[in-house]
Amino acid sequence: MRPVVATIDTDALRHNLAKAQTCRPEANILAVIKANAYGHGAVACAKALSDADAFAVASIEEAEVLFNHGVTKRIVLLAGFFEESELALIFHRQWIPVIHTEQQIQLLHCWFQKNPEKSCDIFLKIDTGMHRLGVPLEKFAEWHAKILAIPNIKQCTLMTHFACADELENKTIELQLQCFESLTKQLDNPCSLANSALVMSDVSFRDNWIRPGIMLYGASPFKNGNAQIEGLEPVMTLSSAIIACRVVNAGEQVGYGGDWQAKRQSVIATVAMGYGDGYPRHVPTGTPVIIRNQRCPIVGRVSMDFITVDVTDCPHAAVGDEVIFWGKELPTDEIATQSKTIAYELLTGISQRVRYVYK
Ligand SMILES: Cc1ncc(COP(=O)(O)O)c(C=O)c1O
Repeated sequence: MRPVVATIDTDALRHNLAKAQTCRPEANILAVIKANAYGHGAVACAKALSDADAFAVASIEEAEVLFNHGVTKRIVLLAGFFEESELALIFHRQWIPVIHTEQQIQLLHCWFQKNPEKSCDIFLKIDTGMHRLGVPLEKFAEWHAKILAIPNIKQCTLMTHFACADELENKTIELQLQCFESLTKQLDNPCSLANSALVMSDVSFRDNWIRPGIMLYGASPFKNGNAQIEGLEPVMTLSSAIIACRVVNAGEQVGYGGDWQAKRQSVIATVAMGYGDGYPRHVPTGTPVIIRNQRCPIVGRVSMDFITVDVTDCPHAAVGDEVIFWGKELPTDEIATQSKTIAYELLTGISQRVRYVYK
């Protein structure tokens, strides 16, 4: 069996959930488990996160997977619905759509006229400055009045999302908060504002439903953050094994394009892992992996199925040894920085051929 494994530590997941609750003790937790729980396996994570108050996903397809596996908590659909045909299932299952366009309100209005016995809760997203989704500020009063005019909508939670929460010193956070507060302070609707970065910040605001995502998985929500110092525990360990070792002489090249050339006689370990598993192709030579508790550098190009590692300074390295690509001793954030991306992308990018083990 190919030795590539993503080991998921469900205790760490629960630890991180508890951390979110400690940061915002008054708030309900809407745990964000979209994109297969950021690559960790949505069903297993939903079950492990039984202390969360509700779950957030990106589509009815993601919600249906949870439902089919017996997850009964309420589910918020972060992009609402994409077509009218989804509404029957959404309200049958009592899922909560995020409403972000006027057309969606119109569709709700028509649907409830045809189905007056049904009811639902919604989230209404307000665009306070991210300019991606949500009601524009100047339209808020009008849209809100339209929602109030649909008696079947029982509760409307007002939400917004922050563009630069990963940089707490960024002025747009305060501007977006002020904007949200000025629109909503006269209303007694529940609110939902904070993603992980704001959950962990000491910025104060009224928030009934925090929406932590990345922090649950143990990666830092902050630019140049350090998850360990921030009290988070990495949930995923991505590992494989050495499947071949060879000696190359000084001047010999390794891998596609011959990008790396040995400066000395070197021992090269070939590991079963590649971009076909979701490991980033763009990591530079020198990016570390862990073998026998020791950091060893990747050399040459990452290929689809294999990675080559210089183990010359790890003398006992041998075929069969475990190789860790990220996990507790090697933060995903560090590998993300090496590959000029973010931990979110690495974690969600784990491919289907990787075996998952839950502990
Ligand atoms: C609307 C919304 N809320 C919350 C989150 C969670 O964000 P984070 O993973 O940074 O905590 C996301 C993630 O993309 C999101 O789109």
